[in-house]
Amino acid sequence: MKPIVTRRGSLAVLVLVVVTGAVWTRSDAASPVAEPYSSARDCARCHQTIHKYWSESEHSRSATSPSFRAALDAAVEGTPDRSAVQRNCVWCHAPTALVTGDYSLQRPITREGVSCDFCHTVADVDLSRPDHPFELQPGKVKRGPLEYAKSPYHETAYSALHKASPLICIACHEYKNAGGVKVLSTYSEWASGPYPVRGQTCQECHMPLVPGNTVSEGLESTQRRINLHRLVGGSAASRVRGGLDLRFGSLALGAASAEVEVVVANTGVGHAAPGGLSSKSLVLAVGVDTGSGELIHRLEKVYRRELKDSDGHALVTIPDFFLKAASVGEDTRIKQKESRNEHFTVPLPENWKAIVARLEYRDASDPKSPKTTLISEQRRERGR
Ligand code: HEC
Ligand code: HEC
Ligand code: HEC
Ligand code: HEC
Ligand code: HEC
Repeated sequence: MKPIVTRRGSLAVLVLVVVTGAVWTRSDAASPVAEPYSSARDCARCHQTIHKYWSESEHSRSATSPSFRAALDAAVEGTPDRSAVQRNCVWCHAPTALVTGDYSLQRPITREGVSCDFCHTVADVDLSRPDHPFELQPGKVKRGPLEYAKSPYHETAYSALHKASPLICIACHEYKNAGGVKVLSTYSEWASGPYPVRGQTCQECHMPLVPGNTVSEGLESTQRRINLHRLVGGSAASRVRGGLDLRFGSLALGAASAEVEVVVANTGVGHAAPGGLSSKSLVLAVGVDTGSGELIHRLEKVYRRELKDSDGHALVTIPDFFLKAASVGEDTRIKQKESRNEHFTVPLPENWKAIVARLEYRDASDPKSPKTTLISEQRRERGR
């Protein structure tokens, strides 16, 4: 456990630890307890703005999104130990279940997913622990980045884990499955790049400081800025656009075709792009526009990390990534600060107007209907 500096003095923490029975582990969770966690609605009474942003985040939907529920059902179906699989998915998507034991997602607090009181009562993270990486201390002490915060409702404790460590995030965003395969490798990617040396953690990019009130008017606030709790990633095109650069390199026009070079660079994504699960990919599409706006003679290059089962077959569904991945196949994603120079031979119809390069983000969380979003487009008009 890292040293925790409390505003109320360490004695208060000691007393509290004794009273609440201290550290929660998986074995404690076997016996469900009353209601160790407060609802986000409760926090919203004072932390209105932060609550509003959190409500817009994927974290607030992680236990209730229809795609998660469908994937959970699919994962559990037909497995011999249903409750083990259920637990395996739920601890990350609805982590309060680690303490309440509510792996069947019955309680309102469980359905709040990655909720305020869960994150702000994590005392430490140790990835080498066997069951789950958290040291949980639900209770009166809310841990956060403010050194001089005082609240009439709860105790506060300054926590370096929240302010400056990626551990609070990677406890759930880095994951090795039973087969030893890293299904989520965001941390190892980040750690191998230039960002740790510059002190740029997950929070710096995903929870930047924005103007706002930590608490509603009338309460004593020590800050005029808040960390953005919306935590957007690939689900927002603007976020992806900001991290990637697309441009034309050399271009040689022939009579019936063009030799086109396109450069895609990962300029501001803190890990490989696209990040996260293997259901995400980036697609570079090159072709010609004859005036209709459609891309004709479309050629593609896909950036993705492939996971395979023990027979070497590529996996496509999220439950399969977690449960069946036995090896990593091709990983063509673009690493931090890396640029890729891609070459295409594009056929040119008589009536061509422009050569077009598009960068698209594809989310195949539901493999039957993948969602494709345009990130950016570059054009070379004919005759220019
Ligand atoms: C009655 C009002 C009130 C309620 C309800 C409330 N808080 Fe607070 N909280 C405050 C005030 C006031 C501060 C100090 C803000 C500042 O210094 O800018 C604070 C500070 C915090 C901090 C910062 C601690 C630090 O040292 O960095 C965290 C984290 C926090 N609250 C979490 C929560 C959570 C989680 C809940 C719901 C379980 C909650 N709060 C409910 C009033 C409240
Ligand atoms: C208790 C587990 C847990 C913790 C702790 C956690 N996350 Fe998440 N995070 C999730 C889950 C689960 C999802 C997916 C939610 C969904 O879409 O169903 C998610 C989604 C996200 C997304 C959205 C991805 C997208 O597609 O837009 C981002 C960004 C993110 N988390 C960043 C962070 C950062 C930064 C931290 C640390 C401050 C963090 N997370 C801490 C579990 C966690
Ligand atoms: C995924 C974990 C996570 C969740 C969920 C979460 N927070 Fe935070 N929160 C953090 C981290 C990490 C920081 C500090 C970020 C930094 O300093 O860079 C923080 C900062 C804060 C602060 C200090 C003021 C500020 O903005 O820096 C308050 C108050 C707070 N959170 C309240 C809440 C409330 C209320 C909710 C729910 C509505 C909530 N948090 C949900 C991780 C979380
Ligand atoms: C230098 C800024 C930066 C840092 C540092 C950073 N990220 Fe990101 N992250 C981004 C950008 C930009 C995107 C959007 C592009 C994408 O989806 O790959 C993103 C996307 C994501 C996504 C969504 C992936 C998807 O496509 O659905 C998750 C989850 C995520 N980051 C988690 C993390 C975690 C955890 C850390 C810390 C280990 C971290 N990030 C560090 C900039 C950063
Ligand atoms: C170690 C934590 C962890 C575990 C265990 C986990 N997930 Fe996730 N899951 C995440 C994170 C983090 C994301 C965010 C997306 C990303 O990074 O691409 C996510 C995203 C998802 C998504 C896409 C987002 C959405 O809501 O549609 C589905 C579906 C999903 N998980 C299902 C499952 C299932 C089913 C299991 C159990 C077999 C499982 N997860 C186990 C962390 C976890």
